[in-house]
Amino acid sequence: MEIKEVILGEKEIELAVRNLARELNNVYKDDDKVVLVAILKGSVVFASDLMRKLSFSVELDFIAASSYGSSTQTSGVVRITRDLDTSIAGRNVLLVEDIVDTGLTISYIKKLLDSRNPKTLRICAFLDKPSRRKTDLTIDYTGVKIPDKFVVGYGLDWNEKYRNLPRVAVIG
Ligand code: IMP
Ligand code: MG
Repeated sequence: MEIKEVILGEKEIELAVRNLARELNNVYKDDDKVVLVAILKGSVVFASDLMRKLSFSVELDFIAASSYGSSTQTSGVVRITRDLDTSIAGRNVLLVEDIVDTGLTISYIKKLLDSRNPKTLRICAFLDKPSRRKTDLTIDYTGVKIPDKFVVGYGLDWNEKYRNLPRVAVIG
C-alpha cells in the first residue's frame, strides 16, 4: 500500500477545522463546560487542533474501541479497550471522531455513553463517508465529506502507519 492521491492538504484541513470550531463556538457558550471525548487513536491529531480553537471551557478525556475486522473494513463488533476517567452524568459531552464510515463504531460508543445519562451528547467528526453508512446515525458536526476511498494521515492509519502524515491521502 502506498500514497496514491492527496485529497486534503494542510491548508484545507486547517480551514475545515476552523469552520468546525466556529460552529461549535456558536453552539456552546462561554459558561458551558464541555467534556471532549476523543476516540483513540485516530482522532488525537484532529482533537488537538480543534480544542485549541474552542473558546468555551473544555475537559479532555479519551475512549478507545477496537472493532474486529480486516485493516480496511469494520466488522461492527466493537470492544471498549480504554474507558473514560470522567463521570459524564449531567455533563455536556462532545464525542470527537476522526472518520465515520459505516457508523457502527460511533453508534456503539454513543449508546454506551448515552446510558450514563449525560446532559447533552453530540458527535463531531472530521471526515464522513456518507455512502458507506449502515446505521441510522446523526453526526451533529462534520468537517469534510469524502468519497468511499480508504484514506490515511491526519491521525488516520493503515496498520498503524501514516498517522503522522499532515495531509489526508488515499492509499492503494
Ligand atoms: P466505522 O465503524 O465503519 O464507522 O469505522 C470507523 C473507524 O474505522 C474509524 O474510527 C477509523 O478508525 C476506521 N476507518 C474507517 N474508514 C477509514 C479510512 O478510510 N481510513 C482509516 N481508518 C478508517
Ligand atoms: Mg482506526
